[in-house]
Amino acid sequence: MTENIILKDDHNEFKFPVVVGTENEKGIDISNLRSETGYVTLDPGYGNTGSCESRITYINGEKGILRYRGIPIEELAQHSDFIEVADLLIWGSLATKKMRERFTALLTDNALLHESLKHHFEGFPFDAHPMAMLSAMVNALSCYHPVLALPQNPREIEEAAAILISKIRTIAAFSYKMSRGEPFIYPKAKFSYAENLLHMMFSLPHEPYEVHPEVKRAVDLILILHADHEQNCSTSTVRMVASSGANLFASVSAGIAALWGPLHGGANQAVIEMLEKIHSGNMDAKQCIKMAKDKDSGIRLMGFGHRVYKNYDPRAQILKELSKKVFNVLNYEDPLLDIALELEEIALKDSYFVERKLYPNVDFYSGIIFRAIGVPKNMYPVFFAIGRLPGWIAHWREANENKKSRIARPRQIYTGPAKSNYVPIEQRPDRKP
Ligand code: SDX
Repeated sequence: MTENIILKDDHNEFKFPVVVGTENEKGIDISNLRSETGYVTLDPGYGNTGSCESRITYINGEKGILRYRGIPIEELAQHSDFIEVADLLIWGSLATKKMRERFTALLTDNALLHESLKHHFEGFPFDAHPMAMLSAMVNALSCYHPVLALPQNPREIEEAAAILISKIRTIAAFSYKMSRGEPFIYPKAKFSYAENLLHMMFSLPHEPYEVHPEVKRAVDLILILHADHEQNCSTSTVRMVASSGANLFASVSAGIAALWGPLHGGANQAVIEMLEKIHSGNMDAKQCIKMAKDKDSGIRLMGFGHRVYKNYDPRAQILKELSKKVFNVLNYEDPLLDIALELEEIALKDSYFVERKLYPNVDFYSGIIFRAIGVPKNMYPVFFAIGRLPGWIAHWREANENKKSRIARPRQIYTGPAKSNYVPIEQRPDRKP
């Protein structure tokens, strides 16, 4: 029996159905709100607004739960690998051996970029941010795959996913090489996904880069942890762009742009810049916390807080332990890890953070690991984008296969000037700056 919510104003009573999710989360279906009541809702930042029903990822922010297609992130982190997780997110169930072999072959076949795409890199300044190049080059890929950019059936989706997942890694590595003035290094079929990324980034023609097994596993695990996160800003952007009928590559390119922001996927770079500032003596951990609590400072404790998690981000927990493991195998030390641990300890005892339920999120420790591996700061959001790509593809597919999907077009409450008339230029007052 459908539960209903009753809305009342001074004159009428309105009834709206309640939608109940798998884990009993409840949403009021207001699809007919305006036509029945004349009202629209107002929810800046969409903190209380569900944009869709989705079967891909479940998060319980109060309990710190994250599941991809029902499987807890902790189990996937322990038993799976990034390509298996990518396939799981896109198709909804774990692949058989045969399916995995087919997808792996597609990834290998699509690892190279069209040689003419290489010339696009020459058009960027050497110090261009790699996220700008990534977004541009992923969009440019649709020019080379016009049919698969709008995949119409499972086989085409599988091939389009292989093209994007394999080539985003090559584009990322080539962007890094371009910034260093080093020759592009091509992928090798014998390498795993993460291994090839590190190989293409760090190998040189005269000196191949030996990937440490623990580093390979760490990068693969980091990609798993970033693979999807339901309706976050960049995934919602992908779904919004997809809703206009735009192709998969253009939708992903928009998602990369949204992810770049320091409040979202760019936070991993901002965390390290914050820790470096503390380490260079510009301020100590206590001062950083004090400024983060002061609204006028314009400073936030980067890598802390989350719209959904009001508990420890399970990914941050795994990354915190992973950072210590990577340091150990590389016999590496970094004062920034000590500063991060000190900041976490202070913040988690400080009423400002406790009352607001601000905990470390996925970005707080990931940069520390990238730094240990030798990845430059501006590449951290790129690694996030590589990890999140399967989630974006899964959501693009889900949005496109939903026959009830409509173009995303939110309403607003207008608060500008009432009706006014055109004024000839000689009669116009100066405009206040
Ligand atoms: C990601 O959505 C996802 O799932 C994202 C993500 C994913 O996998 O896709 O998990 C990845 O983007 C993680 C978040 C990375 N960003 C950061 O680490 C940047 C720092 N964090 C914040 O800017 C903030 O916490 C957000 C952006 C993450 C969340 O912002 P909200 O939900 O809009 O929270 P808010 O700004 O309304 O904050 C609520 C209160 C405010 O104080 P009051 O007005 O109540 O007094 O908490 C304060 C904020 O000032 N606050 C912080 C803070 N985060 C929130 N104060 C200091 N430092 C912070 N980091």
